[in-house]
Amino acid sequence: MPEADNNLDAKNYGIGIPQVPETMLMKGLNELDWGMKDRLARIFNRMSGHTVMLAFDHGYIMGPTSGLERMDLTIVPLIPYADCLMCTRGALRQIVPPTCNKPISLRASAGSTILTELNDECLLSMEECLRLNASMVAVMVAIGSRFEALTVRNLTTMVDQGSRYNVPVLGVTAVGKELVRDARYLSLATRVCAENGAHVIKTYYCESGFEKVTAACPVPIVIAGGKKLPEREALQMAYEAIDQGAAGVDMGRNVFQADCPTAMLQAVRRVVHDGERPEKAYEMYRQMRG
Ligand code: R5P
Repeated sequence: MPEADNNLDAKNYGIGIPQVPETMLMKGLNELDWGMKDRLARIFNRMSGHTVMLAFDHGYIMGPTSGLERMDLTIVPLIPYADCLMCTRGALRQIVPPTCNKPISLRASAGSTILTELNDECLLSMEECLRLNASMVAVMVAIGSRFEALTVRNLTTMVDQGSRYNVPVLGVTAVGKELVRDARYLSLATRVCAENGAHVIKTYYCESGFEKVTAACPVPIVIAGGKKLPEREALQMAYEAIDQGAAGVDMGRNVFQADCPTAMLQAVRRVVHDGERPEKAYEMYRQMRG
């Protein structure tokens, strides 16, 4: 406890030096409370404003996906190269070492699998998300599907609870055979997520008009990788997405199904954080792969 008497006089007031407020580099997120910003700052790199998230939550709808059969062997070695881990609570407790100190984007909605109709989902409790020290919670939103109202309700419920405890919400635009991934649909789906309070949106890249998708979305967008592409093409997609306004990637199969996943993740980092051109990033990938 500080003593009451005989202390040095306080005199270093920095008169004439204005106190400069630090602002977030990410759009739409400057007015959030401290805890919310702290969590987001763990996910997004302060210098680039971007993030490389590693997604391995596929098992919750697909079972033992190729590359995720033994996550202890395939995912754990990738963890050091990711800015954030996107996974289920099962995978988190089962294989992610708590000592890795990576922020977690926790999949917080689940329900149906590929054997039935996707997107009929319910929510984890916010209490469980806090227990797992989630830095962000991810909720599927299936705009245009039979489960549109249910999933928008899931999103708003999580945003309400996240606001209470300062946990940001990732709105994940859903996949589905009937959902077309063009700029018109993706603009609508991402904007609906943002308007309903999602702090970050995960969606797909589209070759035509993606800059309109990011422009019309008032919060950061990260792209999913989608099905496995040749490594050169996946790096090209990441480059174009960032170049057209995405704030990062949340990639799964194009990393853990690559010939050399650690090299691929490092090459993706060069594109996302350093703006490396895809041809150079691919060359780097080839060299690291050996
Ligand atoms: C989709 O809803 C899941 O959350 C996956 O995490 C997502 O699809 C990203 O993985 P991928 O890059 O393999 O598409």
